[in-house]
Amino acid sequence: CGIVGVIGKADATQVLLNGLSKLEYRGYDSAGLYVNDGQGQDHLIKRVGRISALTAAVDGSVHGVMGIGHTRWATNGKPTVANAHPHVSSDERFYLVHNGVITNAAALRAKYLSNVAFASETDTEVVVQLVAAFARDGLAARAAFAKTLGLLEGSYAFALADRTDANHLYVAKNKSPLLIGKGEGFNVVASDALAMLKETDQFVELNDGELVTLTKDTIAITDAAGRPVDRAPITVKIDAGDAEKGPFPYYMLKEITEQPAVMRRLLSRYVDADAKPQFDAALLKALASADRLYIVAAGTSYHAGLVGQSLFEQLAGVPTQAALASEFGYHMPLLSAKPMFIFLTQSGETADIRQVLVNVKAAGYPTLTLTNVITSTLAREADYAVDLAAGPEIAVASTKAYTAQVAVEALLAAALGQFKQVPAAAKSDVAHALSLAAAGQQALIDQQAKLHALATALFAKTRNAFFIGRGTDYFVSLEAALKLKEISYVQAEGFAAGELKHGTIALIEQDTPVVAFITDPKTAARTRSNAEEVEARGAKVLRIAAASLAQPEDQLIVDDLPALLTPLLTIIPGQLLAYFTSLDRGYDVDRPRNLAKSVTVE
Ligand code: G6P
Repeated sequence: CGIVGVIGKADATQVLLNGLSKLEYRGYDSAGLYVNDGQGQDHLIKRVGRISALTAAVDGSVHGVMGIGHTRWATNGKPTVANAHPHVSSDERFYLVHNGVITNAAALRAKYLSNVAFASETDTEVVVQLVAAFARDGLAARAAFAKTLGLLEGSYAFALADRTDANHLYVAKNKSPLLIGKGEGFNVVASDALAMLKETDQFVELNDGELVTLTKDTIAITDAAGRPVDRAPITVKIDAGDAEKGPFPYYMLKEITEQPAVMRRLLSRYVDADAKPQFDAALLKALASADRLYIVAAGTSYHAGLVGQSLFEQLAGVPTQAALASEFGYHMPLLSAKPMFIFLTQSGETADIRQVLVNVKAAGYPTLTLTNVITSTLAREADYAVDLAAGPEIAVASTKAYTAQVAVEALLAAALGQFKQVPAAAKSDVAHALSLAAAGQQALIDQQAKLHALATALFAKTRNAFFIGRGTDYFVSLEAALKLKEISYVQAEGFAAGELKHGTIALIEQDTPVVAFITDPKTAARTRSNAEEVEARGAKVLRIAAASLAQPEDQLIVDDLPALLTPLLTIIPGQLLAYFTSLDRGYDVDRPRNLAKSVTVE
């Protein structure tokens, strides 16, 4: 979910709608806003579906100088108007937007609100009803909010409006992201700076447990103990143009085509004049003292973490394990004596990962976040942070953040290997390989027409599909299958090529599409046999092979790269096949059903 708020702007409604459209990547099941004009008029508008549905519902009369807004990814209650935010207390005094999950809402409702009539099934309504109940008991708005916060368990970013007072807005945060934007004669609130960059580039970060009272001219922060906090704003620089679609029909296609430029940007950022990767010496020292690295991630980032596992083991000589954050947090393996944790996350906000970070920090282990949002929660809270520098990624299906993750892992693993004087690192020339990767990616992006035809031939009517490979080709298979699932709703599976025959091959029927990645000389012949095994059972096979391994039956050739870095190339057809399949089927490529780009609940 994403939240926004504004105070002191004559066009508050427009500021909220602009902000929400920038936050749509965080969820789009339903959206709503509340505005108050300070002269006795206020409006609450909620709609199921996209922000465009909300925008269409807002006419010229919906005017305000203060307001709050929300775009929802349903967790607690179905996507209905009643469950959409803002939620309102039954006395219609308080309006609240929320990102997060309150885990003791039912208990609080039973204890304090047994005689209050509820309009929704949400935990958020419990919170706003509590504020109103405490206010009816005689507390001022801020005090009623503070008292409520003291009772809550779980995660939240809140913005609270009081209809009787358009001069104040209340904001609080615990475990869910939230920033204050500071303007001249106005202030704004948002889950992500991106939402308010049109208004300001000055942002005040918040820590867990803080409560903020905003007026148009002031930002008063108090910590969980009620003590005032003084914090200077930081300047957030994102080229607003980076977050625009330009001539592309979808963000996803724009972001796919940006990948060669991202590779070159990473080279200029992290490689010195002698073509040696360079990172903060203290970070390399911390990594070098670890006896094992754990790469903790979710979704696409986990797939990049699997590639990273091989990179750190082979280039830096350190045992490394990629782990799913949602599993790792609650079922931790037996840790080594001196582990270090790498959090690999495009958004830097994934709640499943943060929960691991909080635990391992409490245990005193060193932490590093690799993220595309260097102002994010996970970047701030880890001991070290490294920027993936891919530029804003807007499409829900991750593309350039994945290749940036693989490239940064390679650069960091090589830098660590050099620091530790591991022979494999001295021999590897990651910088050269990344510049080859940029050229090889461009060559694939230039074959869009061919990839569209292949996508149509393979996936136009299918219900399911398989991607197979060995080693890093297997890791790419997982990611290519995820892309297809996410945006075209084809049930796709990435499989270790040699494992298919041990059960899953039973699913192969006449015309089942199978994509085989063949880039590693060590295993190429074996993967080819596996491709033939499925072909013999009726599968339609697309072979994607490295140039030096090419055979006449291969339909797509990628340039040669060192085996660990071939995902930088092979994922490009994976991404484009998914893109064109989604397009052929008439889906909204950038905003697939049920998903959100940044999932801030566990
Ligand atoms: C969500 C997104 C995925 C993403 C995952 C991890 O589920 O839909 O595309 O891979 O979160 O996100 P992160 O920001 O931590 O990389």
